[in-house]
Amino acid sequence: MIRIAMLGSGRVGQVHAASIASQAGAELALVVDPIEAAASALGAKYGVKYSLDVQDAFEDASIDAVVVGTPTNTHTEMLERAVAAGKKVLLEKPIDLDLARIDATWARIADKAPFVMLGFNRRFDPSFREVRERVAKGEIGVLRAARITSRDPQPPPAAYLAVSGGMFKDMTIHDFDMARFQAGDIVEVSAMVSTNGLEAFEQAKDHAQAIVTMRAASGALVTIVNSRSCAYGYDQRLEAFGDAGSLEAGNWTATTVRAASATQTEAAGPILNFFLERYMPAFKNEMAEFIAAINEDRAPAVGFADGRAALLLAEAAQRSVQTGSVVKL
Ligand SMILES: NC(=O)c1ccc[n+]([C@@H]2O[C@H](COP(=O)([O-])OP(=O)(O)OC[C@H]3O[C@@H](n4cnc5c(N)ncnc54)[C@H](O)[C@@H]3O)[C@@H](O)[C@H]2O)c1
Repeated sequence: MIRIAMLGSGRVGQVHAASIASQAGAELALVVDPIEAAASALGAKYGVKYSLDVQDAFEDASIDAVVVGTPTNTHTEMLERAVAAGKKVLLEKPIDLDLARIDATWARIADKAPFVMLGFNRRFDPSFREVRERVAKGEIGVLRAARITSRDPQPPPAAYLAVSGGMFKDMTIHDFDMARFQAGDIVEVSAMVSTNGLEAFEQAKDHAQAIVTMRAASGALVTIVNSRSCAYGYDQRLEAFGDAGSLEAGNWTATTVRAASATQTEAAGPILNFFLERYMPAFKNEMAEFIAAINEDRAPAVGFADGRAALLLAEAAQRSVQTGSVVKL
């Protein structure tokens, strides 16, 4: 039985606690959050102890692993402390907002052969994974293009925008990883953005919308279409296009019921609300991979290098916006 401590009891901490609880080979051992109400509520929900200090998780020899779901600006510190304490780590994205800090962290932990899995949960989404596997089997011939659509239902609050690190590092980071997952290494990046004229994004010097086009080393072209708001909900789609056909993963609705009338056909209910609902199977599969990799004493399917590579793409996209040119990697 792998005993796991959940560091951070916020939005993503609650998702991970649920997915730990769903695994036969693991148990939630401790939840940690300096906000006592958050820690005690999550602890009570799963009948486990809580603490206000992560040191309690690192010092507890009965705890094998930690999931880091604390704010991004604490990730590298949490990672270094967890590795020093001999814990296996599932680290939420992004590793950090600063490439130099990411590299300095790796330099300090590399000799300990750390077990670090990166929280790119969308790699474990059953539909996106199936697209990749079918492309790999040659079903659509040579992959020529991939289109990743990711639109949030509503923009985050202004306070979040101020510390998020910007759309590319906070939100598009998942799509940069998906681009690498589907098409392999990326060699060119170009991006265009818009604030949609919205004050909150102008103040934060951030983007309400972005379109990123990339070229993979294989020659495949990848497009990412992002928006911080979407009138019809959390729009998450993927298309792979090849010489012999295409594969498309569409949005998920709560049921498969479709209505037809004199004014519409194929009318479905609303798409699943946000990441908690849409990606719950992916979060559970991600946790299953974390536990399997620990049990099998092997590297997890997605690691620190993938987190660094995605951040590199985010920085390239931002450079493209600033210079108006294509950035070569
Ligand atoms: N994979 C995904 O889809 C996904 C989704 C949401 C968030 N995230 C990532 O997860 C991280 C957290 O995001 P969130 O939306 O859950 O934020 P959140 O603000 O909802 O939760 C963070 C929690 O961490 C706690 N915290 C702060 N300092 C701490 C410390 N030193 N020790 C323990 N707990 C501490 C806060 O009190 C808060 O309760 C971010 O890095 C974010 O990018 C990933």
